Amino acid sequence: MTSPHCGTPALIREADHGTPAKPGGAPVSLTIDGRQVTVPAGTSVMRAASEAGIDIPRLCATDSLNPFGSCRLCLVEIQGRRGTPASCTTPVAEGMQVCTQNPRLAKLRKGVMELYISDHPLDCLTCPANGNCELQTMAGTVGLRDVRYGFDGENHLRQEKDTSNPYFTFDPSKCIVCSRCVRACEDIQGTFALTIQGRGFDSKVSPGAAQTFMDSDCVSCGACVQACPTATLSENSIIEHGQPEHSVITTCAYCGVGCSFKAEMQGETVVRMVPYKDGGANEGHSCVKGRFAFGYATHSDRITTPMIRDKISDPWTPVSWETAIGFAAERFKAIQARYGKDAIGGITSSRCTNEEVYVVQKAIRAAFGTNNVDTCARVCHSPTGYGLSKTFGTSAGTQDFRSVEQADVVMVIGANPTDGHPVFASRLKKRLRAGARLIVVDPRRIDLVRSPHIKADYHLQLQPGANVALVNALAHVIVSEGLENRAFIAERCDEADFAYWLEFIRDPRHAPEAVESLTGIPAADLRGAARLYATGGNAAIYYGLGVTEHSQGSTMVIGMANLAMLTGNIGREGVGINPLRGQNNVQGSCDMGSFPHEFPGYRHVSDDTVRALFEVVWGTALSPEPGLRIPNMFDAALAGTYRGLYVQGEDIAQSDPNTQHVTSALESLDCLVVQDLFLNETAAFAHVFLPGTSFLEKDGTFTNAERRINRVRPVMASKTGKAEWQVTCELATAMGYPMHYDSAAGIMDEIARVTPTFRGVSFDLLDRKGSVQWPCNDAAPDGTPTMHIGGFVRGKGRFMITEFVPSDERTSRFFPLILTTGRILSQYNVGAQTRRTDNVAWHPEDILEIHPHDAEQRGIQDGEMVSLASRMGATTLRACLSDRMPQGVVYTTFHHPVTGANVVTTDHSDWATNCPEYKRTAVQVTRSNQASDWQVQKQDADSERRRIAPPAAE
Ligand code: SF4
Ligand code: SF4
Ligand code: SF4
Ligand code: FES
Repeated sequence: MTSPHCGTPALIREADHGTPAKPGGAPVSLTIDGRQVTVPAGTSVMRAASEAGIDIPRLCATDSLNPFGSCRLCLVEIQGRRGTPASCTTPVAEGMQVCTQNPRLAKLRKGVMELYISDHPLDCLTCPANGNCELQTMAGTVGLRDVRYGFDGENHLRQEKDTSNPYFTFDPSKCIVCSRCVRACEDIQGTFALTIQGRGFDSKVSPGAAQTFMDSDCVSCGACVQACPTATLSENSIIEHGQPEHSVITTCAYCGVGCSFKAEMQGETVVRMVPYKDGGANEGHSCVKGRFAFGYATHSDRITTPMIRDKISDPWTPVSWETAIGFAAERFKAIQARYGKDAIGGITSSRCTNEEVYVVQKAIRAAFGTNNVDTCARVCHSPTGYGLSKTFGTSAGTQDFRSVEQADVVMVIGANPTDGHPVFASRLKKRLRAGARLIVVDPRRIDLVRSPHIKADYHLQLQPGANVALVNALAHVIVSEGLENRAFIAERCDEADFAYWLEFIRDPRHAPEAVESLTGIPAADLRGAARLYATGGNAAIYYGLGVTEHSQGSTMVIGMANLAMLTGNIGREGVGINPLRGQNNVQGSCDMGSFPHEFPGYRHVSDDTVRALFEVVWGTALSPEPGLRIPNMFDAALAGTYRGLYVQGEDIAQSDPNTQHVTSALESLDCLVVQDLFLNETAAFAHVFLPGTSFLEKDGTFTNAERRINRVRPVMASKTGKAEWQVTCELATAMGYPMHYDSAAGIMDEIARVTPTFRGVSFDLLDRKGSVQWPCNDAAPDGTPTMHIGGFVRGKGRFMITEFVPSDERTSRFFPLILTTGRILSQYNVGAQTRRTDNVAWHPEDILEIHPHDAEQRGIQDGEMVSLASRMGATTLRACLSDRMPQGVVYTTFHHPVTGANVVTTDHSDWATNCPEYKRTAVQVTRSNQASDWQVQKQDADSERRRIAPPAAE
């Protein structure tokens, strides 16, 4: 079978029509080699021919790039026109008569190929691209048998390779200067790292002014490698292993963009990840993580055998699955017998599949008999769920990524897409280069503010914690200047709520001038941004954790929803409120009922009708009481009332705030079960380790930030011998609640049965369609790319009051700076995956960015080690002087456990959801070349708690 969606073992080769499609144009009919063809106006002759099954030889053209017309291999004859135009750059015309093959054209093409081959190494048999090289194919296609010019003249055959990038090699001796790489870097990735230097014979590809790729602006997305028709740019994995023999379509396991990939394989070895052209989220593009950083899945640190221990000071003992699951179940049951059902619970993972998450939350509710289940979305996007459901009626983003192509104004708030959501960033940058206007709201001068061919119209560099004051001021300007969309409000929104809100927002205390000292933003800039958002055409908001991870995270989400309703920027393409989700399946883990108060589909556990439905399907009585949220679990653990925890694929000891509080809570548990790939920071406190599976072994689905449900297909057998959901089922069964599924598809069938927005979803549907965005049901059998068209899910849109309340986290004489945290492109979350790949070449340690003025005041030089201390704790890390941050604000990442940035973050959290206030911590920075006390203690404890004893005789 060759279906691209069924994962059967064939090598999937996607069609390349040479130039991009031009949908929407009026139909144009022409004749090519005697065949009648009809295509949209604007289509190239090359593409029209290809769609009719006629392949015109080509080298510089590929359908992901606009044509360039440099290689002259695609020449054709057109009746009534002089010469032999390039088919890639010639648009079709009504009645055109094209000839693609005749002796004259064959001779011309052969001549072109002779010139190329005379300056190309003839080492095809040992070349990494052998069998998959367009130059080789074209030489065969044009029938090249001889090179009349010989190979002895001046040539480029002895140029040195650039092996600086850990993932790909640049061998200029094989370059045909087709500039596909340069155009891919510009048009697809938007980085502009490559240029063609020199002219004529001397022209060559160069990584800008830099000597090597690693020294250049290159972000290692791999688009140039994918575009290269020769072996000039080759993946090192292909150089090492050779060409793949089969491929499987699956989904990236990193960020919430949810890129689709072809995993290209040799047996069970992944030799290359190629972004899939039909991937709805990425349309053939990727970033360095998805394309290259998959090696962690087979890293030697993986634990593939279950392990147990009586006390956390004991060494781990490898045991059988049966023993490990029995041990965990007995301990959990003993805790419940002594302290009650609610003394245990679990945490689901946003990195696991929908099916795995669904099974864990079901096990906790049905087998453990408690609603003590929460998910890591608690610490990132829980305010999104709250804010959007209260105002619009649905806890999810409103658009698909493609929608940004229709936006005229884009407001990016508290997100850094080029680092956190790189493939969406490339799409956004393309739209900005085409003329859309940009407002960036961020304390840090992120790359989007100014990058090649992009300059934000406004960078509102606000003080961390002033989001709500800012969003109120934007709304105040729109209302006070009469820029609101009254017709939209009258038709789509609740009248009484709007009237009440209008009175609130008109108050002069919300004027930009009144909040200038609070926000740090000049009033004129804020007014200008408000006018642009309200009057610039289709206006879309994209946001990240800089919105949600504040004490007023939910208020800010509501404030943005108010803004969209006020200006009518909701319910069509090019507008909307769009959370950029951090992890691959944050949306899915929330959808699957991971919150303590909600069943799958966001239905409250106290709703008798809903609960009755689940009781019938799950065959057991369920608790109507909402369970504990993650922070409450920690508090209860320290209070001694919560004593057992099952953690699925989540490293709470590193990712959650106030590390010392978290680890004290974990240390106090009687039974901690960790299901993960590696002995992570949390496992240091565990009694049972259940080895997990990587995305390359999983069968299931992830749901991305667009609500797009993508298939995750296994490309290799589980290294543990079991699927993760099987292990959960066995644990539930051992707890006394028999739970069994035959397959992940069967779990999805149950999800569809109990979740109205998933009613039409099945693996069959996904295999046929590629992906689908929920709601997918009888009302929307093909899914829903854009939400709230014609009406809000809740009926009328609801304006809500968003009073600004300053954070309790204040600066003081002892802690005069504000720390805010974020991500970097090459690393991901707690770094457990990316630190085990060559991505460490870019970010081997967490760095503290500090403004030169703040550094000078403290006598800190660039690159020196510093102590970063808050009221919670201290750590030591390297300082980097940077004016990206305003004075008084410092910034770091949290990818490396040795730094443990969360040692300094606090317990403050969002009032509605308890999402931690990661983005605002009062700190002091001082010179220091000593590890902090916490770091020293951790180092000592780590080696003790990771010891593994020889397998037990069972
Ligand atoms: S890897 Fe990406 S960023 Fe780097 S040069 Fe190639 S296209 Fe440009
Ligand atoms: S490196 Fe490859 S894509 Fe770039 S110009 Fe050379 S042959 Fe063309
Ligand atoms: S943008 Fe996100 S989903 Fe896409 S390849 Fe990169 S990490 Fe993976
Ligand atoms: S493919 Fe048309 S000129 Fe190169």
